[in-house]
Amino acid sequence: MTISIKSAADIEGMRIAGRLASEVLDMLTPHVRPGITTGELDKLAHDHIVHEQQAIPAPLNYQPSGYPPYPKSVCTSINEQVCHGVPGERVLKTGDIVNIDVTVIKDGWHGDTSRMFIVGDGTIAARRLCTITYEAMWKGIEKVRPGARLGDIGHVIQVFAEGQGFSVVREFCGHGIGKKFHEEPQVLHYGRPGTLEELVPGMVFTIEPMINAGRREIKEDRKGGRYDGWTIVTKDRSLSAQWEHTVLVTETGYEILTLSAGSPPPPAFVKQPAAAA
Ligand code: MF3
Ligand code: CO
Ligand code: CO
Repeated sequence: MTISIKSAADIEGMRIAGRLASEVLDMLTPHVRPGITTGELDKLAHDHIVHEQQAIPAPLNYQPSGYPPYPKSVCTSINEQVCHGVPGERVLKTGDIVNIDVTVIKDGWHGDTSRMFIVGDGTIAARRLCTITYEAMWKGIEKVRPGARLGDIGHVIQVFAEGQGFSVVREFCGHGIGKKFHEEPQVLHYGRPGTLEELVPGMVFTIEPMINAGRREIKEDRKGGRYDGWTIVTKDRSLSAQWEHTVLVTETGYEILTLSAGSPPPPAFVKQPAAAA
């Protein structure tokens, strides 16, 4: 297993790509309202990335082995959809929860981030799932420092999410990222402390837990027997949420590369780095 270690110059490139990805979500935020289609959100994102950012939407035509080329520029996963929802004609309605996952390529570097949006007024249950999933991601982020192991991240996310009565999707995980969209290592969102790869300064990977309100099992989203090749749903059709950041291992801890003016603040439990003396 070879995990690339980014140089100072590489990291500068990834900071730019990461900020751009997050700024796409900032731009989309006021548009995520009842009545808009996911296809319209995709078009807004695509045009912003290509024409305003002079960047490339990484999902468009992305084709891992065994998959058809991804046909759109972002992923939009609604309610029981776990991930990789393909934007289209579906109209968002009050009470829907939707994950928008944005990955941009700028100067060859990838930035990958996603947020949950609650359309109009969400139920208490939906809001709680989104909040707990956000906190679960941050519990994982807080483990990132040299000497920690990937299993520490997965473990803390799993214990936290399951402690709230939710379940962790096993089939999809975070990933190394850089010149390629998906690099080594895999970043599982469950596991045992002290296991798996040791973190080293210069590693960059995503943390992107998918948390289900019901059981953890998933399936392909077949509607009337047809499958788009991408969209994944919970087997029991319970709600699913996901948040994602791209994170750098620094000499002393972590730096989140996918932040922008509109990023939600960290949860209250997150210790801010001590101010420089
Ligand atoms: N952005 C997703 C991730 O976090 C991957 C989407 S692949 C696509 O890894 F082709 F569906 F866009
Ligand atoms: Co990712
Ligand atoms: Co993503």
